Amino acid sequence: MSSPRGAGVRCEPVICESAEEFVERAASRIAEALEQAIDERGQARIALSGGSTPEPVYRRLGQSDLVWSKVTASLVDERWVDETDPDSNAGLIERSLRSGPARACRFFSFRGAGDTPEAAAAAVDARLTADAAAWDVVVLGMGEDGHFASLFPGTPELEAGLDPSADRLCMVVRPGPIAPPQTRLTLTLPAILNARRLVLLVRGSEKWRTLQAAMADGSVDAAPIRAIVRRPDLPLETYWTP
Ligand code: 6PG
Repeated sequence: MSSPRGAGVRCEPVICESAEEFVERAASRIAEALEQAIDERGQARIALSGGSTPEPVYRRLGQSDLVWSKVTASLVDERWVDETDPDSNAGLIERSLRSGPARACRFFSFRGAGDTPEAAAAAVDARLTADAAAWDVVVLGMGEDGHFASLFPGTPELEAGLDPSADRLCMVVRPGPIAPPQTRLTLTLPAILNARRLVLLVRGSEKWRTLQAAMADGSVDAAPIRAIVRRPDLPLETYWTP
């Protein structure tokens, strides 16, 4: 594993002047990766983060002219709420990506994997362990605190979540003074990095500052996104728009 990228080496974001350009460029890049996977391996696998930033990208992606029946989609993380809840990432995927031709893709939710967060995390972990194939695309977002997935700075689960040698591929993140108010399930770093392409979607000036700070020296604990953006060996593409 290569040493973490210091401040000297940077993976410059793709700067998109408008929201339309951001959506179009990110969605077409993801579609291109899925199409290449289908051409080369007969199938494509994508893991999707939640949040507001990716929603328009997913909606545009879902309109792409792909053989969606050969695409399997799942999540990077999920809030432990009913899929009808506005906070549900599975619900986000249903109303964005799968609102058009992409409804033909297979989608594996986390909430439906078990009756409790622990049972669901164990089931997702088992599924990913059994099907150890790499994701063709993992779509990530980032919080202003430098979190990605549900790996939040200062939380008790962070160390296990970022452990590159961890054998858990999916884990539960409990609410806490720093973590969000809902119990969540999240892929861990090894599961996220098992990817042919990582697409990081970031919007807004505050997150630009977070991203720039994350590329400078500092601990991964303080800004977990450093586990992604300071790695010259990762197939990372970052898209940013004001
Ligand atoms: C989630 C996401 C999370 C998200 C960031 C950014 O379930 O909340 O997976 O990691 O990507 O919090 O969210 P916004 O795009 O809404 O700012």
